[in-house]
Formats: sequence, C-alpha cells, structure tokens
Amino acid sequence: MIRIAQKGDVQALTRLATETYTDAFGKSMTAAELAAHLEANLSESRIETFVLEDVVLVAEWEGQMVGFVHLSDINTPVQTPVSQSKKLRKLYVHQDFQNKGIGSALLAAALEHPLLKEATYVYLEVWERNIKAQRLYKRYGFEVVDQHRFILPSGAEADFDYIMVRRAAPEMGHDGQSRC
Ligand SMILES: CC(C)(COP(=O)(O)OP(=O)(O)OC[C@H]1O[C@@H](n2cnc3c(N)ncnc32)[C@H](O)[C@@H]1OP(=O)(O)O)[C@@H](O)C(=O)NCCC(=O)NCCS
Repeated sequence: MIRIAQKGDVQALTRLATETYTDAFGKSMTAAELAAHLEANLSESRIETFVLEDVVLVAEWEGQMVGFVHLSDINTPVQTPVSQSKKLRKLYVHQDFQNKGIGSALLAAALEHPLLKEATYVYLEVWERNIKAQRLYKRYGFEVVDQHRFILPSGAEADFDYIMVRRAAPEMGHDGQSRC
C-alpha cells in the first residue's frame, strides 16, 4: 500500500531513512562523514520538514513501513530550470524489502502524484556508482543530462552525482519546449 506520509510517521520515516542510507552509502564515507550527513539531511527535524512542507509517499508491506519517496520543488544545480520543474529527492526502500517491486511502485506513484504529473521536467540526482537506481530511473523515462560533484560535510570532494531528467510527454500539452 502506498499513502501520503503524516506527521505521526516522522519517527518511523527517520529510522527507515537512516538504516537504508547507512546500508546503501555508509561504506563510501568515514563514520564521521556518515554521522554528519545523517544529521544534516535525515534527522527527525529534516524529515518532519519534508513531510509538512513537501510531499512524502510511504510504502507499507504487511503493516510495516518499508520505503518512501520525497517530492518537492526543484533545488538541483541545473543551468536553466524552466517553470514547472520539480524534483524527486529521495527514493529509499529498506534493504530487507528490495527487489520486490516496491521501488518501482513508489516511483510510479510519485510520477502520478499531481506535483510531478503536472511538471514539465522532473529532475533527480543519483550517485554515479548507483547503477541499480539508474536502471530503475531509465525504465521510467529519466535520462542523464549533467553531473556535479557530491561534497561531503567536511568539504571534501567525493564522486559525481548524475543529474537525470524526465520530460513531460509532448501530448500532455505543456509549453512546447520538449517538442524538438
Ligand atoms: C534503488 C531502490 C530504491 C530500488 O528499490 P527496489 O524496491 O529494490 O526496486 P524494484 O524492486 O522495483 O526493482 C529492483 C530490481 O528488482 C527487480 N524486481 C522487481 N520486482 C521483482 C520481483 N517481484 N521479483 C524479482 N525481481 C523483481 C526489478 O526488475 C529490478 O531489477 P534490476 O535491478 O535488474 O533492474 C532501492 O534499491 C534502494 O532504496 N536503494 C538504496 C537507496 C538508493 O539507492 N536510493 C536511490 C538513490 S537516488
């Protein structure tokens, strides 16, 4: 089941985000970098802001929260963001529940949500080494258009993040910029 997150979900979402991020990316940085990243980006207060100010959809499996996707206005460093661009910011499925179609279901639900459905462009950022996520995004029409360095909390430069974009279908009657 996929539903919109509420304020009461914040604690469970924080736990889920922390465990999933640590499992997926923890080995790519030092313990101190990981702790700083979690505090800056996935603390309870950050997650509460996402839930209250943006849109967070959660996936439940037999009553347990196992994944979520976070949608918002764009804050991606793209050259010329057009109006009506939005961003898919986080798509996390707990490691014990991956490869069951939950990530695909969350992504499909996100693209059907009015915030993204009415967007001219939907952007996301993904670690250059995260091939599995890139494969998923490509299946849903995203393509790589740019890249930028991921900066660790210490200020050190890490690998690149790819910027991917999904353009609205021309027949959806947007501003015509995608009709080339
Ligand atoms: C990337 C991520 C969101 C994908 O979620 P997921 O639930 O594993 O995704 P799905 O199950 O829909 O698809 C994953 C794979 O399982 C396959 N699959 C889907 N349903 C399946 C099923 N019922 N049986 C077997 N395989 C299945 C898919 O075809 C896909 O195969 P592929 O990797 O060869 O392309 C998840 O791995 C994750 O949270 N990773 C850590 C955080 C992360 O990287 N997030 C993205 C950062 S931008």
